[in-house]
Amino acid sequence: MPELLEIRDLHVDVEGKRVLKGVNLTLRPGEVHAVMGPNGSGKSTLAYTIAGRPGYEVVEGDILVEGESIVDLEPEERALKGIFLGFQEPPPLPGVRLSSLVVAAVNKRMGVESLSRAADPRIFRKLVEALQKVGLGPEYAQRELHVGFSGGEKKRAEVAQALVLDPKIVILDEPDSGLDIDGVRIVASIIKELRDSGKGILLITHYARLLQYVKPDSVTVLLDGRVAARGGPELAEEIEKKGYTAVARA
Ligand SMILES: Nc1ncnc2c1ncn2[C@@H]1O[C@H](COP(=O)(O)OP(=O)(O)OP(=O)(O)O)[C@@H](O)[C@H]1O
Ligand SMILES: [Mg+2]
Repeated sequence: MPELLEIRDLHVDVEGKRVLKGVNLTLRPGEVHAVMGPNGSGKSTLAYTIAGRPGYEVVEGDILVEGESIVDLEPEERALKGIFLGFQEPPPLPGVRLSSLVVAAVNKRMGVESLSRAADPRIFRKLVEALQKVGLGPEYAQRELHVGFSGGEKKRAEVAQALVLDPKIVILDEPDSGLDIDGVRIVASIIKELRDSGKGILLITHYARLLQYVKPDSVTVLLDGRVAARGGPELAEEIEKKGYTAVARA
């Protein structure tokens, strides 16, 4: 059986600058893999490269989903393969409602031409339920996505999308940044729900707090675009106590 997600010796250039310098990582269904590391170490770059954001050039290595390379696929094709990315800083999408975005994504996956009329009307109820789970009212489905959302509301809306879109691989880039205490608990419980339903989760975070709620199967520490350390949940605790540099040196 091929792995759900396999990253092999990944080297990535952004704007001509080598940002990732040989990253390996394997993710299986029902696993949470945490990625930690100081500012600028390449965590978001890894997330964007998996999602296929233009400008992130794979110069060496490969990314495989269920055994097939995805590096030549467009971002939309990767989404259809079941890759979801929750952004560190979700961009505002004026004119796009969360409900229309979700309808378009689900229709596309079902092979329906029209991106505006829901091929599966149950999606609206699913969306409202997901919003409720993250503590947002149904009116958020009709608001322009992330326009005027508070920092924490953006994070909650991203996680709600992950619930509704039912991807195989969920990449969450600092889903705990800007969240209040209740928000961290809510996001943790949703990550557990996603894990228990068999998704593979790549969880980028700076804080051990989220990882105390969601015990990750493994923790990878990136330092200057390389894997500097890898271990179990105890590694996150060690980082919180000693800082990144000490842990990477050990
Ligand atoms: N478009 C770009 N142009 C130039 N440099 C870039 C670009 N995108 C990323 N980089 C550089 O790549 C490095 C890694 O950035 P990245 O956003 O992946 O870090 P990170 O680990 O996510 O940090 P943080 O914890 O602050 O979110 C940084 O030095 C950053 O300045
Ligand atoms: Mg980042």
